[in-house]
Amino acid sequence: MSVHTACPVTTRKTLGQVLVCLGCCCGRTDKGHPPVPVDWLKSEWKRRMLPKKIHLSISGCLGPCDASNVVLILYGQEAIFLGGLHEETHYLALADWATDCDHQGCLVPLPESLEPFRLERFVDEPVAAGAA
Ligand code: FES
Repeated sequence: MSVHTACPVTTRKTLGQVLVCLGCCCGRTDKGHPPVPVDWLKSEWKRRMLPKKIHLSISGCLGPCDASNVVLILYGQEAIFLGGLHEETHYLALADWATDCDHQGCLVPLPESLEPFRLERFVDEPVAAGAA
């Protein structure tokens, strides 16, 4: 079964979705990771009236635990992983970026301050099954 078949399921559309990891490692200060300001993010998203435009999800493990404090941004067929967020200013930049997207009505480029946190999650050229 192809993952690209037409899907009859419909839902409200958003510009994008931000998944903030709060899994087995991210935000776990008892394991030496910086805190994730979850309550602040949720209240800030509501205060800025963003939930129906850039959906915020607090998620379980997103996979790249070694990057610590991971954020996944989904839009269209694209995904941007960020890792290593360790200051409240990083999450503020994320909220400001989402607000800019809302005001522009489209996904705008990430702010320069978040670019150093981009991480490559997948190999560039997947190896076909059976290839040596
Ligand atoms: S706990 Fe965040 S990526 Fe695994």
